[in-house]
Amino acid sequence: MDKAAIVQKVLKSTSKEPQNRTGTFFAPSNIALCKYWGKRNAELNLPVTASLSVSLGHYGAKTTLSFAEAGFQDDIVVNGKQMNINSDSAFVLNLTAYLNLFRPTPTTRFCVETETNVPIGAGLASSACGYAALIGAMDQLYGWQLPLQTLSLLARLGSGSASRSFWQGFVEWQTGTAEDGIDSVGVSLPQMWPDLRIGLLILNPASKRISSRKAMEITKATSPFYSAWPQKHAHDLARLKKAISLYNFVELGEASESNALAMHAMMLTAYPPIVYTEAKTIDAMHKIWDARQAGLPLYFTQDAGPNLKLLFLKKDKETVQALFSKLIIIAPFENGILN
Ligand code: PMV
Repeated sequence: MDKAAIVQKVLKSTSKEPQNRTGTFFAPSNIALCKYWGKRNAELNLPVTASLSVSLGHYGAKTTLSFAEAGFQDDIVVNGKQMNINSDSAFVLNLTAYLNLFRPTPTTRFCVETETNVPIGAGLASSACGYAALIGAMDQLYGWQLPLQTLSLLARLGSGSASRSFWQGFVEWQTGTAEDGIDSVGVSLPQMWPDLRIGLLILNPASKRISSRKAMEITKATSPFYSAWPQKHAHDLARLKKAISLYNFVELGEASESNALAMHAMMLTAYPPIVYTEAKTIDAMHKIWDARQAGLPLYFTQDAGPNLKLLFLKKDKETVQALFSKLIIIAPFENGILN
C-alpha cells in the first residue's frame, strides 16, 4: 500500500468539497525520551519500535492553509519568508509530495503559511510540529473533523515524529501491527508532571549534515548492532513508562539518556558512520555527568544533531541555568496546557 492508498482509505467517507476558506491549527513540538530510529515500512513511516515523547507546550508551529490560484504553484511561507517552490531542497520536495496526497484535482494549489516559535537551530524536530500543524489545518479547511488519532496517522505519512505532536504532555507512538499502519498512531498518557523541565542546549545551530530519514535507513541497513535495538528499546520504554507512572525522575533521566546514547552508538557502527555528536556535545556531556556525580539530578537526551536537551526538575532550575547560561528552559506541563 502506498501513501495515496492510505489517504484514500482514511478519507473514504469525508467530504471532498472544502467546507471552509481557510483552516488553522497549532501543534506543539515534541522531544522523544525513547527514540524512533528505524522503519519497518519506509513508504508509510512505520516504526520498528514504539517511541515516547514529551510535548513542548506553546513551542510549536501554527499553520494556516487555503487554496491558491489553480494551476499555479503552491505558495509556502514560513515565518513570513516565501520559500522557493522550485528549489530541490528536501524540505520543499517532501512538503510538495505530501500536499499532492490532498489535492482534490491535479491542478489544485495550496497556500501554506506557517509561523513557528521553535528556537531556530535547536534541533527541535520542526518537521514534527510542521506536519502535525499542516494536517490539522487541512482537517479544518475541508471540515473533516477527524479524531486526533486519525490526524496522527496522516501526519506520520509526512514525518514519523509528527504522529506524536497532537497532544501536550507525554505521548506514546505505538508501533502497531497492521500492515497498512492503521494502528500506528500517537496515544496520550494521562500523567502530568508540572515540575519537569526541559533545557534546550544549542551547541551548534547549523542544520544537520544528514537527514534523520537517511541516517535511519543507513543505520538499519548496516549497523551490526541494529538487531539488538528493539530489545534494548523495549527495556528503556518499559522503564520510562514505569518512571512516569511513579514520578521517579532519576529513572526517567537514566532511561532517556541511555536510550539516546544507544541510538548514537548504533550510528557510529553504521557504514558510512553517522556522527552527529561534536566536540562541544562531548564537553557538555562531561559537564552534566560531573554535576550529577556531585549530586545534581541532571540528564540529557540527544536527537539527530549535536545539540542536547536537558532533563531536570523545577527545584534545580537556578543551578542548571548557572551551569549552562544560554539554556532555553521549557516547562512542558505548566499553565494547564495538558489537553
Ligand atoms: O520523524 P523524523 O524523521 O524527523 O525522525 C525523528 C528522529 C529522532 O528525532 C532522532 C527521534 C524521535 O523519535 O523523534
